[in-house]
Amino acid sequence: MEDYIGCAHLAILALNAMPETQPNQDLENELLFQTDALAIIVAREDRKMLMVGGDMPLAVDLTVDMRDISFVGLVFDAFDTMLRTDNRVIRAVGMPPRQPDAVVEVLFEERTMRNAMFDFSARILNLSIVISFITATMVYISLQWMIVRPIQRITRSMMSFSDNTEDATKIIAPTGRSDEIGTAQLELAEMQRQVQLSLKQQGRMAALGGAMAKINHDLRNTLATAVLVSDKLQYIEDPEVKRVTPRLMKAIDRAIDLFRQTLNYAADDALVLRPRRFGLYDPIEEVRSNLSLSDDFSETVWDINIDPELDIVADRRHLLRGIANLCSNAVQAGGAKLIITSRFSDETIIIDVTDNGPGLSEKASENLFKPFSSSSRKGGTDLGLVIVRDIVHEHGGEITLTRSDENGTTFQIILPSDIEEHPSPITDEI
Ligand SMILES: Nc1ncnc2c1ncn2[C@@H]1O[C@H](COP(=O)(O)OP(=O)(O)OP(=O)(O)O)[C@@H](O)[C@H]1O
Ligand SMILES: [Mg+2]
Repeated sequence: MEDYIGCAHLAILALNAMPETQPNQDLENELLFQTDALAIIVAREDRKMLMVGGDMPLAVDLTVDMRDISFVGLVFDAFDTMLRTDNRVIRAVGMPPRQPDAVVEVLFEERTMRNAMFDFSARILNLSIVISFITATMVYISLQWMIVRPIQRITRSMMSFSDNTEDATKIIAPTGRSDEIGTAQLELAEMQRQVQLSLKQQGRMAALGGAMAKINHDLRNTLATAVLVSDKLQYIEDPEVKRVTPRLMKAIDRAIDLFRQTLNYAADDALVLRPRRFGLYDPIEEVRSNLSLSDDFSETVWDINIDPELDIVADRRHLLRGIANLCSNAVQAGGAKLIITSRFSDETIIIDVTDNGPGLSEKASENLFKPFSSSSRKGGTDLGLVIVRDIVHEHGGEITLTRSDENGTTFQIILPSDIEEHPSPITDEI
């Protein structure tokens, strides 16, 4: 509309500059035709009116005053014009751009403006498509460079590292980026280093285990001879020999026990569970009767408080081995009474093993669940509790020391009750 007003003003000025003597209807029509207007009226400050085509009576359907129109109004009117199908006569009133003291009125058909608006929209659409295409290409390229490629590099590094975990060159080199991808690279590099380190350690441990097995084999023979000899020593009447022989036998027993336990621990590295459903009461009774065979337990008072109906899904052999370890510890520490209870609570099964012994020493509490921490009683390896904890963890459960004072100790095992049963046939025994 501003264009209309500007063009109309120019046209009328040109016409006005012609000698007034010759009113030229053809020229006026040509002007109206070129400006797409039906009529143009200009009121100047000097009150002079200029008019082209104003002599025809025209019914105006809509007057738009460009001097007083809001942005929102413009938007609504634009859509209104584009969506209409009729052809209104519109009168636009405004100031020409270079002569603000004049008022220009242009009458024109809405159709011409609608066509111009559709043309304009089509051009905008085409331009938008071109701009979108360029933008999309740039976004694609930058995403490729900044995100996709670095992530591909991380993935490739993970894959090649998992193919060959020993090769230090497969560890990703962080690029020093400060964003999430940079952090991911740093963390991955750190993780790969840790994995390499622990694999190396594991290799060393395995080698050590193998060496120990060999040493144990030879040592067992040596110790067997020692046992035989010490057995014979019992029959020698010498009082001094009679005095030292039991100590010697005990020392040999301890040495054998130590080796057996250390080897068991090394073999447990890959603890494979075969969980089954079983009633807890009978196996615990079995633990009691097995342990009662040993001299250490001859005086022990047992209080087994387990619901005979209580079923549990766990690896029977390993779980009972763990509970037997707790019982042995309690008695070795001086406990004379053992209470084993169990209950079902919140989708878990809780087993408490309580004794009335003297409680854990300060050193033992500090090094709880640490193997070979030399906090244990004489002859112990500090492996018993570690083994119990590993077994419980493998079941997805937790073991905690819930009480330890001069009146006794309680270890609590919490096992989830929804462990899946192992599909293979039952062959496990305690
Ligand atoms: N019920 C308990 N009462 C008092 N002290 C305990 C009890 N259970 C464990 N301890 C202490 O914790 C230490 C560690 O126990 P753990 O079973 O791990 O090793 P250990 O019995 O010394 O040796 P191992 O079981 O390997 O032969 C024990 O030496 C003991 O000092
Ligand atoms: Mg023990």
